[in-house]
Amino acid sequence: GQVEVLHWWTSGGEAAALNVLKEDLQSKGIGWQDMPVAGGGGEQAMTVLRARVTAGNPPTAVQMLGYDIRDWAEQGVVADLSETAKAEGWAEVVPEPVQFFSTYDGAWIAAPVNVHSTNWIWANKQIFDELGLSEPTSWDELIAALDKIQEAGYVALAHGGQDWQDATIFDAVVNATGGIEFYKAALIDLDPEALGSDTMKEVFDRMAKLRTYVDDNFSGRDWNLASAMVIEGKAGMQMMGDWAKGEFINAGQTPGEDFLCFRHPGTQGTVTFNTDQFVMFQVGEEQRPAQIELAKSIMEPSFQSSFNVVKGSVPARTDVSDEAFDACGKKAMADLAEANANGTLYGSLAHGHAAPAAVKQAIYDVVTAHFNGEYDSETAVEELVNAVEAAQ
Ligand code: GAL
Repeated sequence: GQVEVLHWWTSGGEAAALNVLKEDLQSKGIGWQDMPVAGGGGEQAMTVLRARVTAGNPPTAVQMLGYDIRDWAEQGVVADLSETAKAEGWAEVVPEPVQFFSTYDGAWIAAPVNVHSTNWIWANKQIFDELGLSEPTSWDELIAALDKIQEAGYVALAHGGQDWQDATIFDAVVNATGGIEFYKAALIDLDPEALGSDTMKEVFDRMAKLRTYVDDNFSGRDWNLASAMVIEGKAGMQMMGDWAKGEFINAGQTPGEDFLCFRHPGTQGTVTFNTDQFVMFQVGEEQRPAQIELAKSIMEPSFQSSFNVVKGSVPARTDVSDEAFDACGKKAMADLAEANANGTLYGSLAHGHAAPAAVKQAIYDVVTAHFNGEYDSETAVEELVNAVEAAQ
């Protein structure tokens, strides 16, 4: 058999992780037809998917995030994995917030390959050592560190000006500024009071402050090129989900020696997550066995370990040991378990796990316009309330 897989894993770290899956399938005699669509966060991939499904020719499996999965399920074009899920006991080992996106109307329609989170900062250890910096634990300490890095002549904050990257920082700043309950009220419940609050104005003030630490060439830069700036010692920090770790690892770097990973100050104990899932589409009977084998392979505990070690994410099952993971990965697994147990685990807005696509896009537009100086913070708050209302 053969599977055709649509995905957006085209950076060095992402491709290395995908290779683990390709090789695993190859060892089982299943061919891999690659359908990569570059573009972090997957916006472009979703456009290509729409065209394929409209043409009546969907791929076997598609990498997908959060509410997009539910949207496609609603269209009645995805395949049912329930029999396999039942036989393999997925319901017992996949965390409930992850399962929410793998199932629709009681049926399993996707195989979750990982759990990422967005409230991370990646830092260059040599620059931190040279300037006598330690991991900041508050907003003030973060700003003091960014100032020091900038004064020393480095780019303080490596960033790519793309809407989903701006929104990834916004996820963390909303959480850090108002706390995780505020994050939930504003970005998951879409409560107009939270969206229009003074706290939200402070969030935008902080975003404007962070904007002063990026370099002049940030516009349009891909996220992995921003990671490279930290890896190469040109920039001090990057605020990005833990797929960034895949780039550091792919460059031969080691956490604690070459780079540091820490939670965005003020968000420790909470996790804003996204889970990459492979959604199976309705394909011809002859393709079905390979499709089922793909789903089963993705869910194997040993595969979840070897894949996520390379990807920077953590397993989408609770029964996988953290033994093979580096220090950042072990922390990520412990943080996820803690947040899941404490009710401080929520979906990432930036990566489609907090609100459906239309609302996500509406928030992107406001956040990016403000980040680029089109709105002051007060206007951004007003625009946010209106845009979210109009998008629902
Ligand atoms: C995220 C995805 C990650 C990573 C990142 C950048 O949305 O969940 O796996 O690929 O985009 O492309």
